[in-house]
Amino acid sequence: MTSHLNILTTKAQVTAGGATAALPVVRPVEGNDAVAVGTLRQQTGLVTYDPGFTNTACAASSITYIDGDQGILRYRGYPIEQLAEHSTFLETAYLLIYGELPDATTLHNFSARVNRHTLVPENFRSFLAAFPQSSHPMSLMASAMSALGTFYPETLDPMDDDAVDLATVLLLAKVRTITSYLQRSLVGRPLMYPDYSRGYVEDFLRMTFAEPYAPWDPDPVIVAAMDKLLILHADHEQNCSTATVRIVGSSNANVYSSVAAGVNALSGPSHGGANEAVLLMLQNLSESGDTVESFMKKVKDKTAGVRLMGFGHRVYKSYDPRAAIVKSHADAVLARLGKRDKLLDMALGLEEIALNDDYFIERKLYPNVDFYTGLIYQAIGFKPLMFTPLFALGRMPGWIAQWREMIRDPEMRIGRPRQIYMGHPERQYPVP
Ligand code: CMC
Repeated sequence: MTSHLNILTTKAQVTAGGATAALPVVRPVEGNDAVAVGTLRQQTGLVTYDPGFTNTACAASSITYIDGDQGILRYRGYPIEQLAEHSTFLETAYLLIYGELPDATTLHNFSARVNRHTLVPENFRSFLAAFPQSSHPMSLMASAMSALGTFYPETLDPMDDDAVDLATVLLLAKVRTITSYLQRSLVGRPLMYPDYSRGYVEDFLRMTFAEPYAPWDPDPVIVAAMDKLLILHADHEQNCSTATVRIVGSSNANVYSSVAAGVNALSGPSHGGANEAVLLMLQNLSESGDTVESFMKKVKDKTAGVRLMGFGHRVYKSYDPRAAIVKSHADAVLARLGKRDKLLDMALGLEEIALNDDYFIERKLYPNVDFYTGLIYQAIGFKPLMFTPLFALGRMPGWIAQWREMIRDPEMRIGRPRQIYMGHPERQYPVP
């Protein structure tokens, strides 16, 4: 192991079958020390087995830090609470991708560059229109991310810094337009062109909700709420979709193909798809006439196969700090929109029961970021099918930052896990 890593002089010893391996221990800036197991098989014949990567660090990263026990989340060292309060989505995107907050001129130039590229190629619209009407927008979004690369072949080389920079801007710019197209296709409205004079989030909302024949004025409260939600989703270290982006990129696949894989990974209900699933759960509960208490009984009695969606997290064993911020704004945003409805009360009721119930306390299950976001998205006017694409729109800077870090990492090798083979031993093909 080479390294920019802090390798301790103390080694971890693993003894098995008469062989002992002395393995390097790596100390991070914060978090648990890590045993580097790369030479374990060479030294002992053993491999490591860790389904779901519950205890395996797949990368050394300087982007995002989470302390799941304390409910801490920081981007490049800055607490999420401070960024949500004071930053903007594009500034946070710059921070994640380039490592430092931009000064005013740099931010202006970066925003202007992103804005200039917001238009998507005209024939891209017919590409999106070719999908069946019933398609889930996450499938369209993943396909759109892959397809984007074909329009900009000069940006595909992962080893060309200028190409990667341009691809970064193109992805950030066009994912906003594509996301707005997805909602407009769902509701059968004509697609809108970007307006370069407006800010990133403001123009996203305009492209999503305006009518081509009428003026559209932004509501600053809604623009700010949307901006905050995007900041909260912008990165989350090595989650399922980000680890997917890294592993796809580790084959030197281009950044478009890598983030397309991230969008697909995000679509599942255990990951980003949970925000849509939460709203469905609340609506079903409301329509079924079932009480919150009896629903919770079903969740705890696992035979029904019901999970409290928007609850639980692999890393957070305390309140997800993103959920705390969303919750603290949900009431105000819904009230502002005049859409404070019974689903919010139902969600608050479910949370209260869960936080005081032994089942959830013992398993350290708290609301995650997806628990309250859908209620806000719906109040703003997004269709439930759009909730996970909105997560992807927010996560784009994180995926790009992680891909860029991975591609330049001197430790980077193609991601290629081992397995525990449990099939037939060798057998002979039956020759007649
Ligand atoms: N409702 C009821 N029980 C749960 C829940 C839940 N939402 N989440 C976990 N548990 C139980 C689970 O049954 C298990 O119990 P036992 O120890 O008796 O077998 C225990 O808690 C540990 O759960 P796990 O599934 O082994 O934990 P995991 O780390 O593999 O999974 C998770 C994490 C997020 C997939 C899971 O908590 C879950 O399915 N939550 C609901 C879906 C959800 O909200 N996902 C969004 C995650 S946050 C945003 C994101 O990253 O995308």
